[in-house]
Amino acid sequence: MNINRRSFLKRTLAAGSMAVGTGSLLSACSSLRRADLPQQDFATPVNNQLDQTGGAILYHAALAPSGHNAQPWYVRVVKKNEWVIGLDSQRRLPEVDPDNREALLSIGAFAENLALAAGTYGFKAKMEIIAENPFEQDIIKVALINTGSIDYPLERLKRRMTVKQGYLPDEIKKEDIHALSEPLKDRLFYFPKGTEHADCIEEGAIENFRIQANRENAQQELVRWLRLSNKDAERYRDGLTVEGMEIRGFKGWFVRNFIKPQDFEKPSFRKQSIDTTAKLARQGGGWLIITSEGQTVADLIETGRRFERMALMARERNLAVQPMTQYLEEKEGMQQIAANHAAGVVPQFMLRVGYLKNYPDPVSLRRPVSWFVRS
Ligand SMILES: Cc1cc2nc3c(=O)[nH]c(=O)nc-3n(C[C@H](O)[C@H](O)[C@H](O)COP(=O)(O)O)c2cc1C
Repeated sequence: MNINRRSFLKRTLAAGSMAVGTGSLLSACSSLRRADLPQQDFATPVNNQLDQTGGAILYHAALAPSGHNAQPWYVRVVKKNEWVIGLDSQRRLPEVDPDNREALLSIGAFAENLALAAGTYGFKAKMEIIAENPFEQDIIKVALINTGSIDYPLERLKRRMTVKQGYLPDEIKKEDIHALSEPLKDRLFYFPKGTEHADCIEEGAIENFRIQANRENAQQELVRWLRLSNKDAERYRDGLTVEGMEIRGFKGWFVRNFIKPQDFEKPSFRKQSIDTTAKLARQGGGWLIITSEGQTVADLIETGRRFERMALMARERNLAVQPMTQYLEEKEGMQQIAANHAAGVVPQFMLRVGYLKNYPDPVSLRRPVSWFVRS
């Protein structure tokens, strides 16, 4: 990538020119998907401080996306209707996310789902950021205030998913970009496929994926979050399953039954994942970039919340969005970005975007509420 092309962020983001203002009883033949696991039973309180409604709100909150599906949240129930959302240090990704940037974005998405679900159950979720740095455990204090319910279709939270394959090449319609930018205002940038900037992001995304695929520690960390067998998927209910990685058919069956997570460290697997990523990065209608003003805990939580609102909207408009985060994780990518963007315009998400012919049902697994609630 030559240096002129690398300056795309400076020239466009800074200028703002593009701103648009029991099922576990499956046979080994099929993969464990979200719908195969029993729905949570909200008739039973989770513990004596968390009633049925609280359990339902947290169930919906946990449908949020997260890097490697690590689900880095916990919720401490201080008393009825007073909770603390925290960052579980056991669920950090120190190799690819040493500063907890992505963990906090994911917790922001969790907080947004929580607020939306609380609203439909008759509560305003008043949130106060209590962490002063990204390494504190307790992040957000939540007070649920009984205000009467708002009308929001919770089905949207259940339907959202990160799709990787099958993006159509069509340019994204103006009205759709407008709708997606609504929660993000001038912090969303769209680069249509085939433009110089989209080519540049595409090239950088592939290159940084390749760099990360060849970085031993990052690969070993990824391997720890792979849940290839149905047994592991059911046991942990987090991480990346074969279905979640969209490895299907005979290949999916083979990977589930005969491949061990450690095999992903082999050169042949790394090469295959780089080739697949390169192919996918070239599909779709272009790229979205979401920026924030700074990197404080509050900036990251707010950006995660707005990202989630955007992702929920995208699903309604038949649009798939996939974060391709390696550009923002690898030294080389970060250096390019730091050298080429203005202060006050910090890229937080790089997302492929494209229309889908058929939107699939979500497959990624979630831990039940009782697994992440602490007293
Ligand atoms: C901060 C963040 C970073 C992510 N980075 C990537 C990524 O680099 N590549 C990718 O395919 N998905 C990425 N994802 C999507 C997650 O893998 C996905 O949310 C998770 O597996 C759960 O699946 P779901 O979104 O379908 O519920 C990211 C999500 C978040 C919130």
